[in-house]
Parts: sequence; structure tokens; C-alpha cells
Amino acid sequence: MPTDLPHDPLQVLVFGASVRAGSANARLASLVARLLSASGASVDLASMRDFDMPLYDGDVEAAEGVPVGARAMYDRLDQSHAFVIASPEYNASLPGVLKNAIDWVSRIRPQPFKTKHALLLSASPSLVGGNRGLWALRIPLEHLGTRVYPDMFSLAASHQAFVEDGKLADSELQERLEETVSGFLRLVEADVRYVCLERRWYEFLGDRTEADVTQRAEG
Ligand code: FNR
Repeated sequence: MPTDLPHDPLQVLVFGASVRAGSANARLASLVARLLSASGASVDLASMRDFDMPLYDGDVEAAEGVPVGARAMYDRLDQSHAFVIASPEYNASLPGVLKNAIDWVSRIRPQPFKTKHALLLSASPSLVGGNRGLWALRIPLEHLGTRVYPDMFSLAASHQAFVEDGKLADSELQERLEETVSGFLRLVEADVRYVCLERRWYEFLGDRTEADVTQRAEG
């Protein structure tokens, strides 16, 4: 976790959860990274390819520990106050690649998702923009104690949604994205600067970290 001075920039990890070179979600992640930087945040823009890892296997974990790609995701999360994922929707859910990464990273202590805020985005050529996948993605993240921002942003018809400079062709949508990102950043800022909120969140979760009674959101 970064150590904070009052005016240090907020650290935000941003990545698209598709490994494909022409990924619309990677484009959306880049656009949001630019918006966050313009608002004064310090952004670490990652690619899912930075987090390449095998399928979770408890035997491999016992014999060899956590793979390098999962450790890389852990380290970059650990350096962040918050993270943003732009994820494709696969069969009305989150991609297996992303769930696999969350599973591996959740095995590392202290469990890193618990102390973070997250903003979820999706892009899809379909008419609903992959939004169902984000509801599925909320489940493991909220289970792990991530404070998932209530507003999500799903970009429909993603194959024709971007213009040359990487912004959205539809100016109203661009404005909505900007409002969502700035609202998220204000919430992260309030939490990071006024840490009493953090304790309230854990109490809300009913979490008893010290008693170590559950693997739900350890750390
Ligand atoms: C898809 N796609 C898809 N799209 C969608 O809106 N709802 C869905 O349920 C699915 N299901 C699905 C399953 C599988 C296995 C694949 C490969 C694809 C289409 C998907 O949204 C499209 O490929 C996106 O462009 C993927 O995102 P990237 O790679 O462009 O970021």
C-alpha cells in the first residue's frame, strides 16, 4: 500500500482484461487512464499480457508458490489505492482469464483486493456493452472486500465507438464516462484522506481480520 502524504497523487492501476491485440477494452482502459491522469492521479496502465499465468492449481501453488504473472498483478495492486478494470463479457459473465488471475492473486497475503476501491468498465460490440459481465465480476471482488463503485460504464457497439484521438464518438457518452471517472476519483480521495471510512467499511462487512475466522477477505 502506498504511504500517503496529504497532497501525494492517488495511485490508480488501470488495465483491460482482454489479451487480444486489438482489444476494445484495452482502448477503453487507455482512455480512462488519460482521464485519470488529467485529473491529477498517478496512473499505472497495465495490459492483461503483463499478468500471464497458468490455470490455478493447488498442487502447483503448494510446490512452486504463486506464478510470476500473479505476483506482478499483486505488486502493481499493492502500489495502488484503487484499480480500474475494463473487461469483456464472455457468455454473460467475466472472462476466465480474469477470474483465474483474481483467484491466484487472492492467495497472496496480505490479500490485496480488500483495501482497494474499484471502478468497472466494459466494452462489447453488442447492444448492452458487456454490462452483464460486470455484475458477475462484482461477485469475486466484493467477496474479497473490494469497494466496488456503484456506477459502472458499459460501452455498446465498441467496434464503432472510438474516434481517432481515442475518445468516444458520442459526446454525451464521453461526458458520462468523464463524470463516472471523476466521481470515482473523488470517492477514492475522500477515503484515502479520511481513513476513518476504511474502518467503517470493514465493520460493515462484519470482517474480523484478527480472529482470522474466514478466508473471505483476509489480510
Ligand atoms: C464473446 N463476446 C460476447 N459479447 C457480449 O456482449 N456478450 C457475451 O456474452 C459475449 N460472449 C463471448 C464469449 C466468447 C468466448 C468470446 C470470445 C466473445 C464478444 C466480445 O464482447 C467481443 O469479442 C469483444 O470485442 C471482446 O473484447 P475485446 O477483446 O475487444 O476487449
